[in-house]
Amino acid sequence: MPTIEVPFASGAKTTCLIERGALARLPELCAAAGLSGTAGLICDARLFSLQRDALLSLQPAFGDVLARPLSEARKSLAEVETMCEVLSARGIQRDGFVVAVGGGVLTDLAGLAAALYLRGVPWVSVPTTLLAQVDAGLGGKTGANLRAGKNLVGAFHQPRLVVCDPDLLVTLPLRERWSGLAEVVKCALLEGGALLERCEQDLEKAAAGDPQMLLPLIEGAVRLKARVVAGDEREGGARAFLNFGHTVGHALEAATLYAQFTHGEAVALGLRGALAISPLADRERALSLVQRLLVAVDCKLNAAQREAALQAMTRDKKARAGQVRFVLLDGIGAPRLAEVSPKDCLAALTAALAG
Ligand SMILES: NC(=O)c1ccc[n+]([C@@H]2O[C@H](COP(=O)([O-])OP(=O)(O)OC[C@H]3O[C@@H](n4cnc5c(N)ncnc54)[C@H](O)[C@@H]3O)[C@@H](O)[C@H]2O)c1
Ligand SMILES: [Zn+2]
Repeated sequence: MPTIEVPFASGAKTTCLIERGALARLPELCAAAGLSGTAGLICDARLFSLQRDALLSLQPAFGDVLARPLSEARKSLAEVETMCEVLSARGIQRDGFVVAVGGGVLTDLAGLAAALYLRGVPWVSVPTTLLAQVDAGLGGKTGANLRAGKNLVGAFHQPRLVVCDPDLLVTLPLRERWSGLAEVVKCALLEGGALLERCEQDLEKAAAGDPQMLLPLIEGAVRLKARVVAGDEREGGARAFLNFGHTVGHALEAATLYAQFTHGEAVALGLRGALAISPLADRERALSLVQRLLVAVDCKLNAAQREAALQAMTRDKKARAGQVRFVLLDGIGAPRLAEVSPKDCLAALTAALAG
């Protein structure tokens, strides 16, 4: 089964395992990773209600499951505080560890709790959405939202272990699987090669939830992310390429108050926008794959929302002196950072929404 070792310059090291049925093996995997103290298992309440037996079977090893009802609106420091209080009540010491089982909201919050509790205890990330398996679960960025915006507080805290079990994704709503596939397609376009061919061949079958189809796509995306974050632990360089499609994507999410699009839908639209202003020769191949992500996406925005999206892009924290930072492709597998003029920003936004 694919095991990927991710060494960081800070000395931290993450072991990433992608394996069907791995959830049941979590206790032995933690022990093999040298985690032997008292554990605190925190999981997403919706996941708990859907996969209760599998989670309860972990209680002998990890103690009572703490199931938290989470959503983007509840991704707050108050939630992190609750988690830390529970870790404390469980008597977890420095030799203990946190096991975070859920989507990106849960892994970001529980990872932050692990970073803060006793000034940092080890943690294990068990992402249970496709988006979290291919993106949020690995890389050590943890965080919570403030009223002023998403992920405005957080810490880098690398998980000791990341366990991706594709079997967990069977209960995921179809729309959430497509959302995760947008990040996979992003990786495929950044890399080309076998991952791109797999996506072209199996995208719809993977969206239908077949774990056997999902497995190689998850592995390909995780390998790319692992390589990138290992070389750039704190996002000073190549890690920025992972923002491909996100300049327009984030702007669309903000302009529609996070209510119209899933993150992956916004990213897929953003990929279409970035491709439109990229000088790549194989644009048609790239676009036809991105289009498959957008079959069921309603991309109508009113004039005020379009204007808000444009404003959000130019206000983006990566924007400098009127120029907006974009990831463009010189070709499939050949990303580049570019400063883009307001005129090209508008062109990208228009193309993104020209479904
Ligand atoms: N740390 C990072 O590097 C990073 C990267 C990308 C995204 N993120 C963060 O991740 C979050 C989005 O993650 P997400 O898309 O996983 O959202 P999420 O955690 O809100 O999960 C989406 C929904 O799926 C449910 N769910 C989780 N697992 C399930 C399962 N197996 N079956 C059925 N339902 C399940 C959840 O209850 C929720 O309703 C955002 O807050 C974003 O900021 C972080
Ligand atoms: Zn993303």
